[in-house]
Amino acid sequence: SHRITMGPLVAAIDQGTSSTRFLVFNAKTAELLSHHLVEIKQSFPKEGWVEEDPKEILQSVYECMERTCEKLTQLNIDISNIKAIGVTNQRETTLVWDKETGEPLYNAIVWLDLRTQSTVERLINKTPGRNKNHLKHKTGLPISTYFSAVKLRWLMDNVDEVHDAVVSHRAMFGTVDSWLIWCLTGGKSGGVHCTDVTNASRTMLFNIHTLDWDPELCTYFGIPMEILPKVRSSSEIYGLMKSGALSGIPISGCLGDQSAALVGQMCFQDGQAKNTYGTGCFLLRNTGDKPVMSEHGLLTTVAYKLGRDQPACYALEGSVAIAGAVVRWLQDNLGIIKSSEELEQFAASVGTSYGCYFVPAFSGLYAPYWEPSARGIICGLTQFTNKYHVAFAALEAVCFQTREILDAMNQDSGIPLTQLQVDGGMTSNKLLMQLQADILCIPVVKPSMPETTALGAAMAAGSAEGVRVWSLKPEDLSEVTSEKFEPQINPEESEFRYARWKKAVQKSMNWET
Ligand code: G3P
Repeated sequence: SHRITMGPLVAAIDQGTSSTRFLVFNAKTAELLSHHLVEIKQSFPKEGWVEEDPKEILQSVYECMERTCEKLTQLNIDISNIKAIGVTNQRETTLVWDKETGEPLYNAIVWLDLRTQSTVERLINKTPGRNKNHLKHKTGLPISTYFSAVKLRWLMDNVDEVHDAVVSHRAMFGTVDSWLIWCLTGGKSGGVHCTDVTNASRTMLFNIHTLDWDPELCTYFGIPMEILPKVRSSSEIYGLMKSGALSGIPISGCLGDQSAALVGQMCFQDGQAKNTYGTGCFLLRNTGDKPVMSEHGLLTTVAYKLGRDQPACYALEGSVAIAGAVVRWLQDNLGIIKSSEELEQFAASVGTSYGCYFVPAFSGLYAPYWEPSARGIICGLTQFTNKYHVAFAALEAVCFQTREILDAMNQDSGIPLTQLQVDGGMTSNKLLMQLQADILCIPVVKPSMPETTALGAAMAAGSAEGVRVWSLKPEDLSEVTSEKFEPQINPEESEFRYARWKKAVQKSMNWET
């Protein structure tokens, strides 16, 4: 059979909290040619604990790569056209492995995990004035269970294998990007131990001004610097694939998934923003080459650094822990829906929550509250309330949480957003998109190609020095089209519902005291 002649292709590994994907794009048009998805198991060994298996994560990447290559071959597309691979990943999730055996020393502790809550409370109590923002001037982050440093500390204190490996200089720490790149470039026989500035900025060990690990922060958390990966830019050749069908291809892009989505949405200008609905929900606004410190509970984070000699770009971020995860919870824990499609149908069938409010504070509340002791509540119930109303309230919760971070973002910047660019799995839910526009009172704009996160990682990989098959100019990506949702309810009704939501949030807080 004849091969389709085609320009250069660029691939991306998108390793998220709930699933892994491998995707291949045409570098000239940004067209998605083929992809494969594998779901990832999460385990909840104790209340508040969330773990994943590092080997399952790695295996899922290999499987997605193989299956995608098979699909391309079936399409008569020559896989030797793939010129580079980018990696994008769930951020903060913490791993430690043994560099001599190549074996993980414990499960990956997922970003949502709450086991460090008491440690975090102790650390905050020790700061002058009990200030959770004590380390913010360097890290851009509040002291919270969310970030890697406390998870790593827990591993060193509670897992003998980790402790022993650290003492005998065999331990390597990494977020998911580091684990994957190390394994894919050869693992114990010559793997590259690195991360990029965006992932590093979520550990709480990284100084976002100097763009390097911070010795004082490492001392504060008691972390030996030798176990940390080398910090690189988000777009440069880190190493070559060591095995499989794509052996020899450079891995040349690396960004945390929220940064990758910002790049994929081409938010390169100061003031541009996007919101991604995945397991959680993350609104990032580009603030240019200066880190801006929030007065309203947002994080300051490195957005990207697209090349060794390029300046770093920063973003303000509003992080919501539970968005898509509430769908999985209704399905797996309550069993009241069978799929996300059914959730949409149920919610649409009633078109209202009938005064029911659902605050899914399963992992405490993140932005703008940073309250680890909050817990989920469903309130405003009457005899009339049924599962369809609860389904509606769950979707509305995602929208209200986004409204809270959008308000914080507007207050911090003083320049309100006039529309919101969105992406991620949940954006295929049209009811959710309409509700979001109604609750924000501004239009919501969704790209027709939903895999924005992977696109961003592929762009970073394809434009790296030594690869250069992809330009980052938005005007070159003419095929990118979008769909717009305009607000349809009146602002008074929107404000009324939002005020009720805020009351519900107050009820979810201080649950344990
Ligand atoms: O900070 C966590 C975030 O990176 C996870 O993203 O897409 O898995 O919800 P996602």
